[in-house]
Amino acid sequence: MSGVRHLVSIDDLSLPEMRELFAFAAKFQADMRAHSHIGRGLISASLFYEASTRTRLSFESAMLRLGGGTITAADMRTSSASKGESLADTVRVVGGGYADVIVLRHPSEGAARLAAQYSSVPVINAGDGSHEHPTQTLCDLYNLWVERGRIEGLDVVLAGDLRYSRTIHSFAYALARFGANLVCVPAPGYELPDYVVLRLREEFGVEPQRADASRLGDLASSSDAVYLTPQKPHQLSLFTDARGLSIERVDAVYMTRPQTERHPDGARGLENYVQLGKRSLAAESLRDAVVMHPLPRRDEISDDIDSDPRSIYFKQAARGVPIRMAILGYLLGVVKLATDQRPPEPHFYNVPSTTNPCPNPTCIARTEPRHVTAMFKLTSRFPLRAHCAYCSHELKFHFVGCSTTLHYHSPESPDLRKVRSDHFVFLRDADEAARLGYAPAVKPKT
Ligand code: CP
Repeated sequence: MSGVRHLVSIDDLSLPEMRELFAFAAKFQADMRAHSHIGRGLISASLFYEASTRTRLSFESAMLRLGGGTITAADMRTSSASKGESLADTVRVVGGGYADVIVLRHPSEGAARLAAQYSSVPVINAGDGSHEHPTQTLCDLYNLWVERGRIEGLDVVLAGDLRYSRTIHSFAYALARFGANLVCVPAPGYELPDYVVLRLREEFGVEPQRADASRLGDLASSSDAVYLTPQKPHQLSLFTDARGLSIERVDAVYMTRPQTERHPDGARGLENYVQLGKRSLAAESLRDAVVMHPLPRRDEISDDIDSDPRSIYFKQAARGVPIRMAILGYLLGVVKLATDQRPPEPHFYNVPSTTNPCPNPTCIARTEPRHVTAMFKLTSRFPLRAHCAYCSHELKFHFVGCSTTLHYHSPESPDLRKVRSDHFVFLRDADEAARLGYAPAVKPKT
């Protein structure tokens, strides 16, 4: 709905907006009980289709500390979702007078995007499958801003399950936008997904470099590290040798648990999962690093470093309240920012209803197709590449048709430049093209 500001992705906020939100959060944090006039009369609704401790309770605490009220469906199995009510209908009802803002957690990637299409009040994505968790990222960035005084140029290690962790994906996009460097230390088999790396490269100009992680000590012993930097390769040449870029000193280590609830094969392959304990923190490169974790943790951070002054994960969770006060206040229009710099509106194109080229089986476009208008975002015109507007996965297709001429082309064909983007039809193969009435633009030679 036009005019309503949603927070579906971390891309929905500009860098100046984020910096001002950090300043507001610091003001709220300085005296958490002094702001209960700001949100008086306003109500937030928590719709949690997945379990949560921190995100739901910190949002509700934030709303109460602003002087507003909360209504909550902490377990959607006790709601009418269990009777088959769709997400689209649920947000239309809840946003239609019950609440002024909806905080939504859902197991399908893209659920918050779908909810935003149907909601007349702001929708805040509190985690959608393995896709994004933008308010956790704002919390994490706020922590870096408080602890380090800046985000620009920091070296941040991302460790653990980089494939299925939504907090990692939103955090990586935001760090890249701020000009921080990422050192990826995945658990073996849990590297960043291709679609995330592609986006980091194509949209944020981030360059992956092989990295010599020997100075990370124990932390990287069972994994290869990859350094992702928004700097140009020639700016790094002084620091590289035959073994790759040398990681000398890092500013933060961000650890994540294995996201087993989203692993297609359960808990298999976790024997060599990265671990952080007293021994790993002894590495010279981690001397001044803060240790972060979105929590909940399992065994990947041992209790013996909880009292180490570098371990900030419990402070990090506590700071979730003031930053969420700032987010709620801003989206509700009661916290005013000085900047009017908004991020560019995402430009989405619809896919004709006959095809759905999203390859991701847990995308909302697949799990709740009834209310979805399949949409894509163009990331490259030549060769043609596009991503699902809901879950961000790269669309898989062999041919691209034009819905007016009913001709189809290969994604590398220069003739595609003449086809309007809103006329694209993504076709899996020649059989699908023929079934939908499309003919090749160039007849195959006989
Ligand atoms: N960090 C986080 O999202 O925690 P919860 O799952 O407890 O909300």
